[in-house]
This record gives sequence, C-alpha cells and structure tokens, in this order.
Amino acid sequence: MGGAETEETTGRVMSMPCYLGGKKYSNELAERDLLGPVDTTGIKFIPSRPWNPSKHGLPRATALIIILDPETLIPMCVMDGAIVSAMRTGAASGVAAKYLANPDSEVMGLVGASVQGRTQLLAIKAGVPNLKVCKVFDLSQNTSELFAAEMSEKVNMKIVPVNSAEEAFRESDVISTATMAREAYVKGEWYKPGAFHAEISFWDTPPSALKEFDRIFVDDWYHVKHHGVDVSWRAVKDGIIKEEAITGNLGDVVTGKVEGRLNPDDKIFFNPIGMGLHDLSEAYRVFCKAKEIGIGQNLIYFDKPNSWLADLSL
Ligand SMILES: NC(=O)c1ccc[n+]([C@@H]2O[C@H](COP(=O)([O-])OP(=O)(O)OC[C@H]3O[C@@H](n4cnc5c(N)ncnc54)[C@H](O)[C@@H]3O)[C@@H](O)[C@H]2O)c1
Repeated sequence: MGGAETEETTGRVMSMPCYLGGKKYSNELAERDLLGPVDTTGIKFIPSRPWNPSKHGLPRATALIIILDPETLIPMCVMDGAIVSAMRTGAASGVAAKYLANPDSEVMGLVGASVQGRTQLLAIKAGVPNLKVCKVFDLSQNTSELFAAEMSEKVNMKIVPVNSAEEAFRESDVISTATMAREAYVKGEWYKPGAFHAEISFWDTPPSALKEFDRIFVDDWYHVKHHGVDVSWRAVKDGIIKEEAITGNLGDVVTGKVEGRLNPDDKIFFNPIGMGLHDLSEAYRVFCKAKEIGIGQNLIYFDKPNSWLADLSL
C-alpha cells in the first residue's frame, strides 16, 4: 500500500478530516439552502482498490463518513460515504462548469464512464443546461454502451459512444476526464478555442498540455499541493508552468473574488483534488434528512459512560 501515487496501481486509503466553520453565517446559509450546517467536524475514510470492479465486481472505492456532535465531539453519525463522495465530486465539476464553461456550450466529451463519469455528466448538465450531446469514451466499449443506455434519458441528452479519447475531446465545448488511466494520453492540440475541461482523475492530461490553457482553477490549491499528484501541481513542480498560472480556487470565482472566464475563446482547466469539506457538508444534509424521514438505526454508544472501568481487573 502506498500514497496518492498508487491510486491507479495498488490502491490507497485516504483519511480526510475536516472542520466546517462559519457559524456566524449559519442563518443566512440555512435560509438560502446553500450548504450543510456549519460548526461541524468529521472525517471521510475512503479506501480504494483499482481491481475491485474487474476482479470482484465490487466498487473501486468505498467510504465511511463519521460526523461528530459539535458540542461533545462524540460521533453522532456513521454513514456510507461512497454516494456522497461521488455526488460531491460531480457537483464540484458542475459548479465549475456553470461558472467557467461557455453557457451556450452544446457538446460534451467524457472519458471514463464508470461511477464518477455518471456524476460528472449529471452535474455538468445541471451547470450547463444547454448541453445536448455527450461523446463518451471508455477503454471498455461495453462500459461506454451501458453508460449511454442508462444515462441518456436521465440527462435528456444524446449520448454517443466514440472510439477514442481524441474523438471525445475534439470539437467538444465541455470535457470531463474521470478514468483510472496510469499514463497521460491527452494532447494539447485536441482542445477547441473556448473549451472547458474538468479533470478529476490524475494522470490523463500531461503537464505539458497545461500550457494550452488561458486559465487554470482548482478547488483548493493548498490541498492540491499537499496531495502531490494532480497534474496542475506536477506542472508547477516540474517548472512547466509558473505557480502564478494557477488562476485561483473555484470558491473565489463563486464569491466574485477572482474572475472566471474572461472571453469566449479562453481555454479553461479545472483540476479538483476533492475536498473533505464538501463530503462533510453534504453528509450532514443526508444525516438530517435521514432523521427527518426516520431512516437509519440508533446505535447505543454507552448505557452508562465509563461503566466498564468498574470491571477492570488483573
Ligand atoms: N478529484 C476528485 O475529487 C475525485 C473524487 C473521486 C474520484 N476521483 C477519481 O475519479 C476516477 C474515476 O473513479 P471511478 O470510481 O469512476 O473509477 P472506476 O474504477 O469505477 O472506473 C474507471 C473507468 O475508467 C476507465 N478507464 C481507465 N483507463 C482509461 C483510459 N486510459 N481511457 C479511458 N477510460 C479509461 C475504466 O475502464 C473504468 O470504466 C479515479 O481516478 C478517482 O481517483 C477523483
């Protein structure tokens, strides 16, 4: 078992603790239904084995999320995190596409048609409702075909399986890469003027291709650097682009601190590492909803705190 760089080979286990602050904005956020509750602490624990789908027919990644009670810091919820994780990853690209893609975009190219590919398409379509066609490429043709059959009606788009990543990219206004590729295959010359590309996986685009982009955004640059394998960081580390070429964090675009797209011909790259904060805020929403509609199970943590101490003996 290794670090972030072994995601695509032997697998990895990620632990993503976080604190969601901002208590003073809680009323406003609740009124605007913008985010899960604030002043919440928790962790997503997400192991992944690349061979699970092919060898065992199981998901590559599974996850557990633990949410702590803000007052006592005692766990108050243990829940599955795989769905929240996939949905929030899609949502980050969807928000990025809403702010950074050309709103009149009609054609999307998607490479990687598994779990993340599905939530990429759903959220990007929500962010850019004008999209009409999605060209999809996966190394497994069967996977692309299944994807097209399942997703077309859900997003009300024509989904066309294509024979190469290049076909998915060429002439696409919006692109998403969500694969387990171990080696870069993207070529800088595939992008049309004005293209927006969300790369949520790690090795698809070579660092050299980042020179093509007018603007590069991430979800959080500090975390991208810490993770150490995202192409935006490798391109800076290897001296291919300067750190100043990283235009900013998506949140700053949403709040108006940083300008997003400057003109329709800008080629824009979005490279999120994926934030525990997004997992936690969405998990908390799910937790609240589950309580509201009465699903889930109450676990007895202790009848009498520390009563086991009375039974200690040598
Ligand atoms: N940045 C984030 O926030 C974030 C969050 C979750 C997952 N991810 C990443 O998303 C990626 C996809 O996750 P998943 O759960 O869908 O994985 P998965 O293993 O279920 O599916 C990967 C798919 O990619 C295809 N594929 C592999 N190499 C390819 C290539 N060179 N060209 C085309 N298709 C190729 C496979 O056939 C498979 O269908 C992973 O790299 C994962 O680490 C990123």
